[in-house]
Amino acid sequence: MKANYLFTDTHAWSSQVLMPSFAEDWPLLPAVRAEGAYLFTADGRRYLDFTSGIAVTNVGHGHPRVLAAARQQMENFSHSAVGITVHEPLLKLAQALPEVMPDGMDMFFFGNSGAEAVEGALKLARYVTGRPGIIAFEGGFHGRTYGAASVTTSKSKYRKHYEPFVPGVYFAPYPYSYRCPLGEDDDSALKWSLGGLQKIFDRLIPPEEVAAILVEPVQGEGGYVVPPAGFLPALRTICDQYGILLILDEVQTGFGRTGEMFAAQVFDVRPDIMAIAKGIANGFPLSATVASQSLMCQWLPGSHGTTFGGNPVACAAALAVLDVIREENLLENCRKMGTRLLQGFKRLKEKYAIVGDARGLGLMLALELIVPGQGKAPNGEAAMAVLNNCLERGLVAYMAGLHNQVVRFIPPLIVTQEQVDEALNILDESLAAL
Ligand SMILES: Cc1ncc(COP(=O)(O)O)c(C=O)c1O
Repeated sequence: MKANYLFTDTHAWSSQVLMPSFAEDWPLLPAVRAEGAYLFTADGRRYLDFTSGIAVTNVGHGHPRVLAAARQQMENFSHSAVGITVHEPLLKLAQALPEVMPDGMDMFFFGNSGAEAVEGALKLARYVTGRPGIIAFEGGFHGRTYGAASVTTSKSKYRKHYEPFVPGVYFAPYPYSYRCPLGEDDDSALKWSLGGLQKIFDRLIPPEEVAAILVEPVQGEGGYVVPPAGFLPALRTICDQYGILLILDEVQTGFGRTGEMFAAQVFDVRPDIMAIAKGIANGFPLSATVASQSLMCQWLPGSHGTTFGGNPVACAAALAVLDVIREENLLENCRKMGTRLLQGFKRLKEKYAIVGDARGLGLMLALELIVPGQGKAPNGEAAMAVLNNCLERGLVAYMAGLHNQVVRFIPPLIVTQEQVDEALNILDESLAAL
């Protein structure tokens, strides 16, 4: 059916021409412009954007340095497949990134999306170890392509009707302290998770046949779950013991989101392979599978490739992003503003019985909502209502968690104290209005 396109009526129009398969078509804002921490819509409204396009526009919308770098590269050329040519932004980026990456992460396969970076990591791990097994974690989210969906268990609807998946994948419990069956504390959560992993080794696949353990340092889509401090180091020890590769999916946690450039640095753990994307180029599509030279050099010519990966405009933007994070002290701002926002969340937890947990790391923060008087029954309905109440008051946040019971806040790293306080006031009003 043909109809006249009306941008202000995005919900009606989108339902005619866009597939409904996205996780949730929320809030479908008709954005016409964005600047810094703000989105502007066709009806003239201004919104405080605490989604950053799902952890992408970390240095703020339309940062002039990023735009200038991209614009300049567009004047030069905007595409030429890597291999046929090689270009300066790509080489410069591959030289600049190791300075901010965890030690030893110094060779790159550039792609376009987070899922592609995960695919590359899984393929590399199997290729170099010659082993079939992959261990991922319950509640993890790694993307929508087949390999990435095969290691994703944040919601079964992401897997529904897509069987059979890539074989050889096993799932261990993630240490989710708030919902740990052994007890709501870090020690219990760690015990529960590592016990589950040991059970996989004992009953399902011996560790000598496992190529990689793949893990998000903080679970994103799964509910902004921060593991106990000892979790990633424990995985490192297990990987060293059995010659298993440790893959960190830092697609969401990377580029300053957790208060360090990468969460690996927060938890002081050395990965073998990393998947990075989202914040890398502040919105230009770019990602990378990263490993040490010694590992990467075993990936022989022809074994992996891409047409669009390592796009010159995106690489030029990524170089500017690194400069901006450093020169504007955005890691420090992330830690400061993150602490302020989390303290505010903790006050809201004391004030409202519906808030079961307030948690997060850096500027990756969330409230988990429950049904008061019913233990920890997840309250997805209330979370949606809070999101809508916030939206009415000019604040955009997002959902996460198995039942969408987690309201997640992902402000840009440039966020100011005034904006944090404004968001907290709006959130307070939105919870009060329930
Ligand atoms: C941890 C993690 N890995 C992978 C992905 C997939 O990234 P993309 O949507 O760019 O394919 C996401 C996306 O949300 C993510 O959060």
